Amino acid sequence: MELFNVYPLYNVTPVKAEGVYVWDENNTKYLDLYGGHGVISIGHTHPKYVKALSDQLHKIGFYSNSIQNPLQTELAQKLGKLSGCENYKLFLCNSGAEANENALKLASFVTQKSRVISFNNAFHGRTSAAVAVTDNKNINAPINLQQEVTFLPLNEIELVIHELGKNDVAAVIIEGIQGVGGLDEGTTEFFQEVQQICNKKKVPLILDEIQSGYGRSGKFFAFQYHNIQPDIITTAKGMANGFPIGGVLISDKYEAKFGMLGTTFGGNHLACAAAISVLDSIEEENLIANVNEVYEYFLEEIKTVPKIKEIKGRGLMLGVEFDFGVGELRKKLIFDKHIFTGGSNNKNLLRILPPLNIKKEQIASFLNTLKELLV
Ligand SMILES: Cc1ncc(COP(=O)(O)O)c(C=O)c1O
Repeated sequence: MELFNVYPLYNVTPVKAEGVYVWDENNTKYLDLYGGHGVISIGHTHPKYVKALSDQLHKIGFYSNSIQNPLQTELAQKLGKLSGCENYKLFLCNSGAEANENALKLASFVTQKSRVISFNNAFHGRTSAAVAVTDNKNINAPINLQQEVTFLPLNEIELVIHELGKNDVAAVIIEGIQGVGGLDEGTTEFFQEVQQICNKKKVPLILDEIQSGYGRSGKFFAFQYHNIQPDIITTAKGMANGFPIGGVLISDKYEAKFGMLGTTFGGNHLACAAAISVLDSIEEENLIANVNEVYEYFLEEIKTVPKIKEIKGRGLMLGVEFDFGVGELRKKLIFDKHIFTGGSNNKNLLRILPPLNIKKEQIASFLNTLKELLV
């Protein structure tokens, strides 16, 4: 059987990894500034993560959600404490799309409404409701068009107020910082006004922190730059450093009912063990402080690199924008210089999502390489 060929691949085959580096089958070493789509948070094969998963596998890897699993409780408590979101409840699932799917479903249960407000250039995943609120016609099949979704430009509060005035809205969903779209974000004023109108209209505000969360922005969640309290927060990617998991943090104003949400694999023992090791490492190694330090260094040093139009994003969720397409540059970075970077909907933007424990020296080496390639 052949693979269903949906991914355009770079011809590189990583076979081992450690920290911010991966090696291919010829033992060529690559600097990983992309972390497999922003997934590697505490570094590849982090010893704490490897130990947590191996130890857990020797005890019990999986049982269903019909038994007690104290690891889920431990994860919820640690996540609440570290993120400053102790007054939320946690529902565990397996991916970012699934987290958003459940968040939207919950909002629709609560409001008994179905139309969703999303934003231009948003990316929220590929399952039915998640893809419908994603602003990309090419990845929406006819079946997805059954969802009622209105896309609005970011930072146009009057339009949000106008739509919520129609009293048929189940949720407003927004990324803390847009990832796939190209690192644009709402202003503090916009986030605060959206929160206000959502509160007034009793419409759940869903913050998609799947890419911008877990310390990547320099705060635990990117919305924490704006002093708001969303009703629902979704997370995945960095949550378990590559082990599949997703989470929905739900305000305690919403009541859980048996059967309302559910999953076979979500919150399994292995995923919880991996996710706990990530939170422990973020805390013990002060990784969020490292994100901020490296970010400051990056902002200073990038000034010496030519041809840059704008720096977008925050922390270690960065976009370097040029006034030309970066396709060729990314190829040169991978194949000649052995550095992984990412792209986005904005073809002029290089996306940087390294592990959160990257060091200044490694950023310096990337910037020197950029200078060399951009002369
Ligand atoms: C902001 C955001 N939401 C949701 C998703 C979907 O996550 P997953 O691919 O785990 O389903 C992504 C993935 O890139 C994302 O960046």
